[in-house]
Amino acid sequence: MNCKNNEKLRVTVDYNYMMAKSLGDKGIKQSELDEMQDKAQKAFGYVNDNRGRDDLFMGWTELPYNQNEIVEDILKTAEKVRKNFKYFVVLGIGGSALGPIMAFNALKHLHYNELPDDKRNGPKFYVEDNVDPVRMQALLDVIEPEKTCFNVISKSGATSETMTQYLIIADILKKKGVNLPDNIIFTTDASRGNLIKIDQSYGGKFKKYVLPDGVGGRFSEMCPVGLLPAAVLGIDIKAMLAGAGYMDELCSKPDIRSNPALACAALQYITMKQGKNINVLMPYSDNLKLMADWYCQLWAESLGKAVDYDGKTVNAGTTPVKSLGVTDQHSQVQLYIEGPYDKVITFISVGKYACEMPIAHGCEDIPDVGFLGGHTMQELIQAENKATAYALMRAGRMNYTINMPEVNEFTLGQLMYLLELQTAYTGALLNIDTFNQPGVENGKKATFALLGKRGYEGQKAEMDSAPALDKNYIV
Ligand code: PA5
Repeated sequence: MNCKNNEKLRVTVDYNYMMAKSLGDKGIKQSELDEMQDKAQKAFGYVNDNRGRDDLFMGWTELPYNQNEIVEDILKTAEKVRKNFKYFVVLGIGGSALGPIMAFNALKHLHYNELPDDKRNGPKFYVEDNVDPVRMQALLDVIEPEKTCFNVISKSGATSETMTQYLIIADILKKKGVNLPDNIIFTTDASRGNLIKIDQSYGGKFKKYVLPDGVGGRFSEMCPVGLLPAAVLGIDIKAMLAGAGYMDELCSKPDIRSNPALACAALQYITMKQGKNINVLMPYSDNLKLMADWYCQLWAESLGKAVDYDGKTVNAGTTPVKSLGVTDQHSQVQLYIEGPYDKVITFISVGKYACEMPIAHGCEDIPDVGFLGGHTMQELIQAENKATAYALMRAGRMNYTINMPEVNEFTLGQLMYLLELQTAYTGALLNIDTFNQPGVENGKKATFALLGKRGYEGQKAEMDSAPALDKNYIV
């Protein structure tokens, strides 16, 4: 992809419909935003000063720049996988799965796996992001394990879900006489964890990619976690990283007026303080439907925190909600327009869709239908997007729009980096640790206890001694 013409492909943010100028007393006054500048500058400073620091899990900021060698290696591996395998399956969960699924959805044909081989031009692609037995069986029903390359992605190598998936697949492969390193690639920590131990037991024969120390799961799409699956799909990963770098450049100033991620963070912070607890992401593109899933994890796991850096109980965070334009106009938008004033809606609008679809003439004698003929579906979806934003504004509902000129590798890289930076700045504004996830860890430990893992006997005893469930409350 030629990314030379950056400006034409620049992702921008339009926050007119957040402001008092459009929304009257329901909007944010320019003076309020100006008052935020000092605080925003400090948040910018915190993120900027700690760029790349592994100890703070800020390694993701440097991913657009420090992976030249890895990218070349990934491209070689991807070529081999594309040549030798009929299927490519990611085994992982959470941050190790949502990125690869999102990029697949964004940049490949919406019915990729159903395309005939010559049109698909790459292995069929699946991501096991759960431990639902029905889903695992469904996967096994459609793949041929010995013709499948499995990419096990786990930073810790200790996540029960991922390791369960691994155990099942490894057993099937062994029974079919497959040498595991021939069909499995690990993406994991450089030196620690159970995948490393498994590799050692095979004499270091597995192909391995490193999930860098300073990169947490939800910030990992632009390291080998996302880059290998994307490259196997024929996605231009260099353009994706270039897009992220371009957005980094666009966000290089500590000024709300010129830094789009800082502007979004400031708006989110102001509305949080007003008690708007719901943060909707509504892309007007089926290709970006799963971007909303990826974003929900990024936002929720990063900002949902009990205490701040001063040890004060803050119970921070707003609830991210995924929505799809225009589909959810016929489901959720009624609530957004007339329900409580507790939401901020972020639209993602697309300037040019990947294809045109003219609407045929017909039904001229039925004006309600006939007016559609001669337009295109792109015109219709864009009109509905604009109309919904306008209707929300007219109803005094805050919304802003991220404009993507088109959906491609370069703009997707920009969008991901924009949302990552926005999350990091918002966390800094809230004075919380954006990059840990103690709540998730507690759930993991309780699962270990329930399944009798050694070392978790104390937790098990505590759970067993909890008050028995009251039968009266089960109906
Ligand atoms: O964002 C995160 O850190 C989590 O969602 C993890 O990615 C998820 O829990 C999986 O962890 P691991 O990569 O250690 O298997």
